[in-house]
Amino acid sequence: MKTTTSKRVADRSAPSCYALVQFPQFTGIRCLMMPYIQGRPETVPEQFRAGYEEIIEGITIEAGELGFLTIDESVAMAGKPHRGSRAKSDRAIHTEAGRHPDGVYAWGGGGWGSSHRVTLDGRTGVLLANSLDDSCAIWNATHEDTSIDGDIGHESNRYPYTDATMMRAGEVHRIGILTPHESLPVRNDTQRQFLRIVGRGVHGRESHFTENPLLVA
Ligand SMILES: [Fe+2]
Repeated sequence: MKTTTSKRVADRSAPSCYALVQFPQFTGIRCLMMPYIQGRPETVPEQFRAGYEEIIEGITIEAGELGFLTIDESVAMAGKPHRGSRAKSDRAIHTEAGRHPDGVYAWGGGGWGSSHRVTLDGRTGVLLANSLDDSCAIWNATHEDTSIDGDIGHESNRYPYTDATMMRAGEVHRIGILTPHESLPVRNDTQRQFLRIVGRGVHGRESHFTENPLLVA
């Protein structure tokens, strides 16, 4: 497998293509927000890194620092966005973090939200990539007044597709925790590979985060 990490866009304040990767063969790997050391595949258990070694080594926000790795290889169903079940309106547009009434940025939302089990620094970086063309749209914006769980479908008229960057397969884009982005419906049932790296600035753990026995963090 070959990984290309050529940087194409210099403006890091905007959603931008950060690098290009070639996804390995689909095997159904799934790890969610697993702590690891960015740039060090040996800190990721074998079952979660198989085929992704070069990507993990080459794609970082803060190399050598604690990060959180999500690899989700699953079947995207025709007509449904990947995040469809979590979206509250027709469009699955959201920010990665939710914002609580007291101004705390937090992960997820809903039942656990008020407990602030996971909080995020406002400048936490996020890298996103997936294996399907045009299955994610990103807007060059910061949605400060996001909802408690990050769903902003009710304000989707602020984000027309004509203003969006459509992610291409293998493109790694860097966004912030308040960058509007949208998981888009796919035309056919398709195996989809999704990669997310969240950098420094995550405080606390959720029970659904995948534990890493190699790294008690
Ligand atoms: Fe997202």
